[in-house]
Amino acid sequence: MRAVEAYETILLVGKEGKRYLVQPAPGGSWSSNRGHISFDDIIGQPVGQVITTQIGHEYLVLRPTTSDLIQHLKRTTQIVYPKDAAQLIMELDLWDGKRLIEAGTGSGGLTLAFARAVMPSGRVYSYEAREEHQRLARRNLEKRGLLAAVDFKLRDIAEGFDETEVDAVFLDVREADRFIPQVEAALADGGMFGSLLPTANQVSALTAALQAGDFVEIRIQELLVRPWKPVPDRLRPNDRMIAHTGFLVFARKISARHRHFWMDKRQRRRAVEYGNWPNRDDIDEDES
Ligand SMILES: C[S@@+](CC[C@H](N)C(=O)[O-])C[C@H]1O[C@@H](n2cnc3c(N)ncnc32)[C@H](O)[C@@H]1O
Repeated sequence: MRAVEAYETILLVGKEGKRYLVQPAPGGSWSSNRGHISFDDIIGQPVGQVITTQIGHEYLVLRPTTSDLIQHLKRTTQIVYPKDAAQLIMELDLWDGKRLIEAGTGSGGLTLAFARAVMPSGRVYSYEAREEHQRLARRNLEKRGLLAAVDFKLRDIAEGFDETEVDAVFLDVREADRFIPQVEAALADGGMFGSLLPTANQVSALTAALQAGDFVEIRIQELLVRPWKPVPDRLRPNDRMIAHTGFLVFARKISARHRHFWMDKRQRRRAVEYGNWPNRDDIDEDES
Protein backbone atom coordinates (compact mmCIF):
# COMPACT_ATOMS: atom_id res chain seq x y z
CA MET A 1 0.00 0.00 0.00
CA ARG A 2 1.24 3.53 -0.85
CA ALA A 3 2.87 5.22 2.14
CA VAL A 4 1.63 8.55 3.50
CA GLU A 5 3.35 11.45 1.72
CA ALA A 6 4.27 14.79 3.26
CA TYR A 7 1.45 17.38 2.83
CA GLU A 8 -1.14 14.96 1.44
CA THR A 9 -4.54 15.13 3.14
CA ILE A 10 -5.12 12.22 5.50
CA LEU A 11 -7.91 11.27 7.87
CA LEU A 12 -7.38 10.60 11.59
CA VAL A 13 -10.19 8.60 13.19
CA GLY A 14 -10.43 8.78 17.00
CA LYS A 15 -11.99 6.26 19.39
CA GLU A 16 -15.62 7.52 19.20
CA GLY A 17 -15.45 7.73 15.43
CA LYS A 18 -14.42 11.43 15.52
CA ARG A 19 -12.78 12.37 12.24
CA TYR A 20 -10.08 14.96 11.54
CA LEU A 21 -8.43 15.93 8.26
CA VAL A 22 -4.74 16.81 8.57
CA GLN A 23 -1.88 17.53 6.18
CA PRO A 24 1.36 16.24 7.72
CA ALA A 25 4.27 18.65 7.24
CA PRO A 26 7.75 17.31 8.08
CA GLY A 27 8.75 18.39 11.60
CA GLY A 28 5.17 19.49 12.44
CA SER A 29 2.54 18.05 14.74
CA TRP A 30 -1.23 17.84 15.30
CA SER A 31 -2.76 18.54 18.69
CA SER A 32 -6.12 18.11 20.37
CA ASN A 33 -7.24 17.91 23.99
CA ARG A 34 -6.09 14.27 23.81
CA GLY A 35 -2.46 15.13 23.27
CA HIS A 36 -0.34 15.58 20.19
CA ILE A 37 0.98 13.48 17.32
CA SER A 38 4.27 14.12 15.53
CA PHE A 39 3.80 14.14 11.73
CA ASP A 40 7.22 12.51 11.31
CA ASP A 41 5.65 9.37 12.85
CA ILE A 42 3.02 9.32 10.05
CA ILE A 43 4.97 10.39 6.92
CA GLY A 44 6.41 7.39 5.07
CA GLN A 45 4.25 4.92 7.02
CA PRO A 46 1.45 2.88 5.42
CA VAL A 47 -2.17 4.00 5.92
CA GLY A 48 -4.13 1.79 8.31
CA GLN A 49 -1.60 2.22 11.11
CA VAL A 50 -2.63 3.30 14.62
CA ILE A 51 -0.80 6.30 16.01
CA THR A 52 -0.76 7.19 19.70
CA THR A 53 -0.55 10.64 21.33
CA GLN A 54 2.02 11.23 24.07
CA ILE A 55 -0.75 10.70 26.66
CA GLY A 56 -1.92 7.41 25.20
CA HIS A 57 -4.93 8.21 22.95
CA GLU A 58 -5.06 6.23 19.72
CA TYR A 59 -5.95 7.43 16.19
CA LEU A 60 -6.29 5.37 13.05
CA VAL A 61 -4.62 6.85 9.92
CA LEU A 62 -6.75 6.53 6.74
CA ARG A 63 -7.15 8.26 3.38
CA PRO A 64 -10.27 10.48 3.20
CA THR A 65 -13.05 9.75 0.74
CA THR A 66 -14.49 12.49 -1.48
CA SER A 67 -17.46 12.52 0.90
CA ASP A 68 -15.11 13.19 3.88
CA LEU A 69 -13.53 16.06 1.96
CA ILE A 70 -16.91 17.65 1.13
CA GLN A 71 -18.24 17.29 4.67
CA HIS A 72 -15.13 18.91 6.22
CA LEU A 73 -15.17 21.84 3.82
CA LYS A 74 -15.24 25.36 5.23
CA ARG A 75 -18.51 26.84 3.92
CA THR A 76 -20.52 30.03 3.67
CA THR A 77 -23.13 28.68 1.24
CA GLN A 78 -25.34 25.60 1.19
CA ILE A 79 -23.20 22.81 -0.25
CA VAL A 80 -24.29 19.80 -2.18
CA TYR A 81 -24.85 16.52 -0.30
CA PRO A 82 -22.61 13.57 -1.22
CA LYS A 83 -25.63 11.50 -2.38
CA ASP A 84 -26.47 14.19 -4.96
CA ALA A 85 -22.82 14.72 -5.95
CA ALA A 86 -22.46 11.00 -6.68
CA GLN A 87 -25.52 10.98 -8.94
CA LEU A 88 -24.31 14.11 -10.76
CA ILE A 89 -21.01 12.46 -11.61
CA MET A 90 -22.85 9.47 -13.09
CA GLU A 91 -25.51 11.42 -15.04
CA LEU A 92 -23.11 14.08 -16.32
CA ASP A 93 -20.81 11.21 -17.33
CA LEU A 94 -17.67 12.64 -15.77
CA TRP A 95 -14.35 10.85 -15.93
CA ASP A 96 -10.69 11.60 -16.62
CA GLY A 97 -10.36 14.05 -19.50
CA LYS A 98 -13.87 15.56 -19.50
CA ARG A 99 -14.35 19.36 -19.70
CA LEU A 100 -17.14 20.68 -17.52
CA ILE A 101 -18.64 24.09 -16.68
CA GLU A 102 -20.27 24.60 -13.28
CA ALA A 103 -22.05 27.65 -11.79
CA GLY A 104 -22.14 28.93 -9.10
CA THR A 105 -19.01 27.84 -7.37
CA GLY A 106 -20.39 28.59 -3.87
CA SER A 107 -18.01 27.14 -1.26
CA GLY A 108 -16.56 24.71 -3.80
CA GLY A 109 -18.10 21.47 -2.48
CA LEU A 110 -19.14 20.25 -5.88
CA THR A 111 -16.08 21.76 -7.55
CA LEU A 112 -14.03 19.44 -5.35
CA ALA A 113 -16.05 16.35 -6.33
CA PHE A 114 -16.00 17.31 -10.03
CA ALA A 115 -12.24 17.99 -9.98
CA ARG A 116 -11.56 14.58 -8.44
CA ALA A 117 -13.75 12.95 -11.13
CA VAL A 118 -12.12 14.55 -14.21
CA MET A 119 -8.47 14.58 -13.05
CA PRO A 120 -5.74 14.36 -14.12
CA SER A 121 -6.38 15.47 -17.72
CA GLY A 122 -9.88 16.98 -17.49
CA ARG A 123 -10.88 20.50 -16.48
CA VAL A 124 -13.57 22.22 -14.39
CA TYR A 125 -14.50 25.80 -15.37
CA SER A 126 -16.21 27.15 -12.26
CA TYR A 127 -18.21 30.41 -12.50
CA GLU A 128 -19.25 32.51 -9.50
CA ALA A 129 -20.75 36.02 -9.26
CA ARG A 130 -19.59 36.80 -5.71
CA GLU A 131 -15.92 37.37 -5.06
CA GLU A 132 -16.00 36.30 -1.38
CA HIS A 133 -17.50 32.93 -2.33
CA GLN A 134 -14.93 32.38 -5.03
CA ARG A 135 -12.09 33.27 -2.64
CA LEU A 136 -13.23 30.68 -0.09
CA ALA A 137 -13.74 28.00 -2.75
CA ARG A 138 -10.29 28.62 -4.17
CA ARG A 139 -8.79 28.23 -0.69
CA ASN A 140 -10.78 25.02 -0.11
CA LEU A 141 -9.53 23.50 -3.37
CA GLU A 142 -5.96 24.65 -2.81
CA LYS A 143 -5.92 23.01 0.63
CA ARG A 144 -6.82 19.68 -0.96
CA GLY A 145 -4.28 19.97 -3.78
CA LEU A 146 -6.95 20.21 -6.49
CA LEU A 147 -6.34 23.71 -7.90
CA ALA A 148 -4.56 22.38 -11.00
CA ALA A 149 -7.84 20.92 -12.32
CA VAL A 150 -9.97 24.07 -11.92
CA ASP A 151 -10.29 27.48 -13.67
CA PHE A 152 -12.20 29.88 -11.40
CA LYS A 153 -14.13 32.63 -13.19
CA LEU A 154 -15.71 35.62 -11.50
CA ARG A 155 -18.80 36.49 -13.53
CA ASP A 156 -22.57 36.60 -13.59
CA ILE A 157 -23.37 33.77 -15.98
CA ALA A 158 -26.06 35.89 -17.62
CA GLU A 159 -23.06 37.27 -19.56
CA GLY A 160 -22.34 33.80 -20.93
CA PHE A 161 -19.43 31.37 -20.69
CA ASP A 162 -15.98 31.64 -22.32
CA GLU A 163 -15.79 27.97 -23.29
CA THR A 164 -17.45 26.16 -26.18
CA GLU A 165 -17.81 22.46 -27.05
CA VAL A 166 -17.66 21.41 -23.39
CA ASP A 167 -18.80 17.90 -22.40
CA ALA A 168 -21.12 19.00 -19.59
CA VAL A 169 -22.67 22.03 -17.89
CA PHE A 170 -24.02 21.99 -14.35
CA LEU A 171 -26.05 24.84 -12.78
CA ASP A 172 -26.61 25.32 -9.06
CA VAL A 173 -28.07 28.84 -9.24
CA ARG A 174 -31.50 30.31 -8.69
CA GLU A 175 -33.63 30.56 -11.82
CA ALA A 176 -31.46 28.14 -13.78
CA ASP A 177 -34.13 28.33 -16.53
CA ARG A 178 -32.96 31.87 -17.40
CA PHE A 179 -29.55 30.64 -18.54
CA ILE A 180 -30.44 27.93 -21.05
CA PRO A 181 -29.31 29.95 -24.13
CA GLN A 182 -25.88 30.44 -22.49
CA VAL A 183 -25.72 26.70 -21.70
CA GLU A 184 -26.62 25.80 -25.30
CA ALA A 185 -23.85 28.05 -26.63
CA ALA A 186 -21.22 26.34 -24.46
CA LEU A 187 -22.26 22.68 -24.73
CA ALA A 188 -21.07 20.34 -27.47
CA ASP A 189 -23.76 18.46 -29.41
CA GLY A 190 -24.62 15.39 -27.35
CA GLY A 191 -23.26 17.08 -24.19
CA MET A 192 -24.87 16.66 -20.80
CA PHE A 193 -26.73 19.26 -18.78
CA GLY A 194 -27.61 19.03 -15.09
CA SER A 195 -29.06 21.25 -12.39
CA LEU A 196 -29.89 21.04 -8.69
CA LEU A 197 -33.01 22.94 -7.64
CA PRO A 198 -34.66 23.19 -4.23
CA THR A 199 -38.29 23.72 -5.29
CA ALA A 200 -40.74 22.10 -7.69
CA ASN A 201 -41.67 25.50 -9.22
CA GLN A 202 -38.05 25.93 -10.33
CA VAL A 203 -38.06 22.43 -11.81
CA SER A 204 -41.20 23.26 -13.75
CA ALA A 205 -39.69 26.47 -15.18
CA LEU A 206 -36.45 24.68 -16.10
CA THR A 207 -38.27 21.79 -17.78
CA ALA A 208 -40.21 24.24 -19.95
CA ALA A 209 -37.00 26.08 -20.89
CA LEU A 210 -35.21 22.81 -21.81
CA GLN A 211 -38.16 21.64 -23.90
CA ALA A 212 -38.19 24.96 -25.76
CA GLY A 213 -34.44 24.59 -26.40
CA ASP A 214 -32.26 21.93 -28.03
CA PHE A 215 -32.58 19.33 -25.28
CA VAL A 216 -33.83 15.75 -25.15
CA GLU A 217 -33.83 12.96 -22.57
CA ILE A 218 -35.04 15.28 -19.80
CA ARG A 219 -34.98 13.46 -16.46
CA ILE A 220 -36.22 14.78 -13.11
CA GLN A 221 -35.02 12.94 -10.03
CA GLU A 222 -35.14 13.12 -6.27
CA LEU A 223 -32.75 10.93 -4.28
CA LEU A 224 -33.83 9.60 -0.92
CA VAL A 225 -31.12 7.70 0.95
CA ARG A 226 -32.43 5.87 4.01
CA PRO A 227 -29.59 4.58 6.17
CA TRP A 228 -30.19 1.42 8.22
CA LYS A 229 -28.68 0.51 11.58
CA PRO A 230 -26.06 -2.20 10.99
CA VAL A 231 -27.25 -4.43 13.87
CA PRO A 232 -27.79 -7.94 12.40
CA ASP A 233 -30.39 -9.17 14.95
CA ARG A 234 -32.34 -5.87 15.11
CA LEU A 235 -32.04 -4.75 11.51
CA ARG A 236 -34.12 -1.59 10.87
CA PRO A 237 -33.79 1.91 9.37
CA ASN A 238 -32.40 4.82 11.39
CA ASP A 239 -35.07 6.94 13.08
CA ARG A 240 -34.06 10.03 11.13
CA MET A 241 -32.92 10.67 7.59
CA ILE A 242 -32.00 13.65 5.46
CA ALA A 243 -35.18 14.02 3.48
CA HIS A 244 -35.33 16.79 0.88
CA THR A 245 -32.05 18.24 -0.37
CA GLY A 246 -33.02 19.22 -3.91
CA PHE A 247 -34.39 18.01 -7.22
CA LEU A 248 -31.94 16.95 -9.90
CA VAL A 249 -32.75 17.73 -13.52
CA PHE A 250 -30.73 16.30 -16.41
CA ALA A 251 -30.91 16.59 -20.19
CA ARG A 252 -28.80 16.05 -23.27
CA LYS A 253 -28.19 18.72 -25.91
CA ILE A 254 -29.02 17.63 -29.44
CA SER A 255 -29.02 19.77 -32.54
CA ALA A 256 -32.55 20.56 -33.79
CA ARG A 257 -31.98 18.59 -37.03
CA HIS A 258 -31.56 15.40 -35.00
CA ARG A 259 -34.63 15.84 -32.85
CA HIS A 260 -36.59 13.26 -34.87
CA PHE A 261 -34.61 10.45 -33.22
CA TRP A 262 -36.60 11.22 -30.06
CA MET A 263 -39.99 11.62 -31.77
CA ASP A 264 -42.63 9.00 -32.34
CA LYS A 265 -44.43 8.87 -35.73
CA ARG A 266 -47.24 11.17 -34.59
CA GLN A 267 -44.80 13.80 -33.34
CA ARG A 268 -42.82 13.63 -36.62
CA ARG A 269 -45.96 14.18 -38.72
CA ARG A 270 -46.95 17.09 -36.55
CA ALA A 271 -43.47 18.61 -36.91
CA VAL A 272 -43.84 18.46 -40.71
CA GLU A 273 -47.36 19.89 -40.52
CA TYR A 274 -46.23 22.89 -38.46
CA GLY A 275 -43.12 23.50 -40.54
CA ASN A 276 -40.76 22.57 -37.66
CA TRP A 277 -38.97 19.96 -39.70
CA PRO A 278 -35.65 21.06 -41.16
CA ASN A 279 -35.58 18.45 -43.93
CA ARG A 280 -38.64 16.55 -45.04
CA ASP A 281 -36.46 13.89 -46.71
CA ASP A 282 -35.41 12.74 -43.25
CA ILE A 283 -38.77 11.03 -42.83
CA ASP A 284 -38.90 7.39 -43.92
CA GLU A 285 -41.07 6.73 -46.97
CA ASP A 286 -43.48 4.50 -45.04
CA GLU A 287 -44.10 7.25 -42.51
CA SER A 288 -44.96 10.10 -44.91
C1 LIG B 1 -25.97 27.11 -3.53
S1 LIG B 1 -24.50 27.94 -3.96
C2 LIG B 1 -23.59 26.72 -4.84
C3 LIG B 1 -23.02 25.67 -3.93
C4 LIG B 1 -22.01 24.78 -4.59
N1 LIG B 1 -22.64 23.95 -5.62
C5 LIG B 1 -21.32 23.89 -3.56
O1 LIG B 1 -21.49 22.66 -3.59
O2 LIG B 1 -20.57 24.43 -2.74
C6 LIG B 1 -25.04 28.99 -5.29
C7 LIG B 1 -23.94 29.96 -5.74
O3 LIG B 1 -24.30 30.47 -7.01
C8 LIG B 1 -23.89 31.81 -7.09
N2 LIG B 1 -24.70 32.44 -8.15
C9 LIG B 1 -26.04 32.70 -8.12
N3 LIG B 1 -26.44 33.27 -9.28
C10 LIG B 1 -25.34 33.36 -10.08
C11 LIG B 1 -25.10 33.87 -11.39
N4 LIG B 1 -26.10 34.38 -12.13
N5 LIG B 1 -23.84 33.79 -11.90
C12 LIG B 1 -22.82 33.27 -11.18
N6 LIG B 1 -22.99 32.79 -9.91
C13 LIG B 1 -24.22 32.83 -9.36
C14 LIG B 1 -24.14 32.35 -5.69
O4 LIG B 1 -23.38 33.51 -5.42
C15 LIG B 1 -23.75 31.16 -4.82
O5 LIG B 1 -22.40 31.24 -4.45
